[in-house]
Formats: sequence, C-alpha cells, structure tokens
Amino acid sequence: MEVKVISTEKFASLQYRKTGSGPAIVLLHGFPVSSLLWSKVWDKIGEHNTVIAPDLPGSGGSAGIANLSMELMADAVKAILDTEGIGKAIVAGHSMGGYVATAFAAKYSDKVSGITMVHSIASDDTEEKKETRRKSIALIEKGGKEPFVKQMIPNLFSPNSSQLHPEWVQEQIIEGLKVPAESLTAFYNAMINRENHTETLSNAAFPILWVAGKDDGVTPLDKVIQHSMLASVNFVKVYDNCGHMSMIEQSDRLTGDIIEFSKYCSNANA
Ligand code: MLT
Repeated sequence: MEVKVISTEKFASLQYRKTGSGPAIVLLHGFPVSSLLWSKVWDKIGEHNTVIAPDLPGSGGSAGIANLSMELMADAVKAILDTEGIGKAIVAGHSMGGYVATAFAAKYSDKVSGITMVHSIASDDTEEKKETRRKSIALIEKGGKEPFVKQMIPNLFSPNSSQLHPEWVQEQIIEGLKVPAESLTAFYNAMINRENHTETLSNAAFPILWVAGKDDGVTPLDKVIQHSMLASVNFVKVYDNCGHMSMIEQSDRLTGDIIEFSKYCSNANA
C-alpha cells in the first residue's frame, strides 16, 4: 500500500492510498473517518483492481478547505485520478462518500465506469435531518466533539456486531476523534447543502451497485430500495446482520460484491 500526497492550486494537500493493478476503483470513506475505513477490503480488491482510497479534504492526511462541498470533494477525486493518469474508474462511496460519488458522476460522468453506493442514497437531506445536523454542529462548536463522536459511532453498527465485536466500535471512535472539529462541521455543512442527485443517477449511462444493511439505522434499507431502481442497470445487495458499516461488519462479502461488480463494468465497457 503506497501512501501518496499531492498538492494542486485548489488543494494544499491531498493524501491517498494506492494499491493493486487493473481497472480502477476509488473508495470514498464516509463521515467521520478517513480512508483507513477501507483497510479490511482494499488488499483483496487490489488483487483484481487498482485501488485508490483518498482522505477527503479535512480528514486523515488531507488538508481542509474553505466552503467544503460535495463538488469540491469530487474535484479532489478528479485531481487524484488525473495525477494517476486514470481515465475511468468505478467510484465507490460509503454514505457521505456516496454523496461525493454522485456529485462526481454529475460533474465528470465521462470518467465513471460504475458507481457503488455503500449504505448511501442519491437524494439530499430532509429539513428534519438538516435540523439534527445543525444541532450537532452547535454541540461540536461548543467543544463537544468527543461526546458527539462517542454517541454517534455505536449507532453505525448492527446490534449483532456491537455485541460480538465491541473492538470495531472502539476502533472507529478512535478514528473519529482524530478528525478535527472544524472538519466534522465542514462535512456536516457540505451534507446539509448537498444537491439531490436522483436525476443524475436516473440518467446514468453506467451501472450502479447498491449495498444495504438490514440493520442500518442511518441509511435504512427501505430508503436504499427506493433508490435502487434509479439507473437502467442496478445491482442490489442486502446484507443480514449488518448495520451501516459493511466494510467492517461483512468485509469479505463486500469485497466479493465489489470485485464481481467491477468485472461486470469492465465487460460492459469492453
Ligand atoms: C456517513 O456515514 O457518512 C454519514 O452518517 C452520512 C450521513 O450522516 O448522512
């Protein structure tokens, strides 16, 4: 696994991890962590694909950026692909990473060979969700990052996973606490202000893989199912005993599904 850092006019520093060879797959992490989220899946996927796992601006080794938006994060992905000389990629996003993937598909559709939405949806926030996020932003700004992270992370896992693997929850709390408070609020503001990309995916010329957890309390199964008919070619995978974190809770299954999807996309593009 190589760790690389680039800097461009727009981005002071963008860190990403790269491994493997073959058709490119970008793995975009969700909130509130970094590219390390994918550490249980990237080596196996790298046996079939070139894997690029960026730290989105403000997390891991990537510097934050003013007025963060899904479009700016899509620009960060584009800058990395350009640096690597990658023409087309499957863009796989976990939750917030899926919001970035849809913004990327809207802005750079010619660079997309497929999209994978891991516990993610294409629509924007409801007013109720925006209000909840604003309350969390206020808490974090008052110095409440630690209670916020400690309260939110356990809800990402299924009851089964939390019981059998409390260490998974603890590891993600540690990762979440590494992200600066100003990055957490920047990500939340970007999510509040994000566009609805259902139209983008309805018009998609590329296939989409949807992954849902039956016990996901953040992106519930029924919401994913509603979105999973948007494109003309959709694959839907529903995981038992899985919450919002299949790359940890069901890592082997997710790895296999991503590799299989990539093979389909390669044949479809051939
Ligand atoms: C994530 O997992 O990235 C976030 O929980 C997504 C969200 O809050 O909408």
